[in-house]
Amino acid sequence: MRYTPSIVLSFVSLVTAREISSNLQAFYDAHINEECPNAISIAYDSGQATSDTVYCQDASGAVYLKDTKSGYADMDIDCDGLNADQGDCNNDPSGQSQTAFQDQVQAFGISDLDAHIHTYVVLGNDNSADGGDGGVSFDPQSVGIKPLSVVAVVCDGQLFYALWGDVNGGKSTGESSLALGQLCFPDEGLTGDSGHEKHDVLYLAFPGNNAVPGASANWTAGSREEFEASLAATGDALVAGLSSGSKTRVMRGRL
Ligand SMILES: *[C@@H]1O[C@H](CO)[C@@H](O)[C@H](O)[C@H]1NC(C)=O
Repeated sequence: MRYTPSIVLSFVSLVTAREISSNLQAFYDAHINEECPNAISIAYDSGQATSDTVYCQDASGAVYLKDTKSGYADMDIDCDGLNADQGDCNNDPSGQSQTAFQDQVQAFGISDLDAHIHTYVVLGNDNSADGGDGGVSFDPQSVGIKPLSVVAVVCDGQLFYALWGDVNGGKSTGESSLALGQLCFPDEGLTGDSGHEKHDVLYLAFPGNNAVPGASANWTAGSREEFEASLAATGDALVAGLSSGSKTRVMRGRL
């Protein structure tokens, strides 16, 4: 009966492969080749180049990583949290034992996020003296993005839901958990030390408490597909409310 697990797995991935709604596709297409109209951070590093990626705010308040030229962001693999040295994470050069919101995660009955199960993304840059250059930091909470809120991720023509689950201590941008990376790019052999380098991944975070799934997420899910699916009710509502590709209006009265 060795074939049974793979049949079950492909069924599950069929169920969770999410189509990109037309308004989200319009958003993706409208912004990919433009310069960010409303940058809210300094330019951080993608890993492929330095000072090439900003946090960009849409008129709706949604925030996304944007290459300063064309493109969005890459996808490096983050293995922080539980089982940081296991499986395809065992070669992660920057693994840490904890994720940034570990104390809040513990309210849901787990001791930390697990990069093998939880689809999470890394947003925010401490740019600390230790990890970056001790220069200007960016905290998504400064523009209303809540810890452990749902982030819509467009990768390889699909949509997956993730959580804002970790913060970069340095200047790097474009990172996701192993679980999300392998769902996005199952054929690229992503591991803790090998990411997706093309700047075609859209990470879209939404402000406010409506983006926080809280107890409706299945924190104790047994698989990445099951966890991702548990974010869909929250995520679908956020994506449905996104205005399609209209030109971003620069918010007045804001530096
Ligand atoms: C969460 O995942 C666990 C493990 O697979 C499962 O037993 C449980 O029924 C799930 N809970 C919900 C609310 O879906």
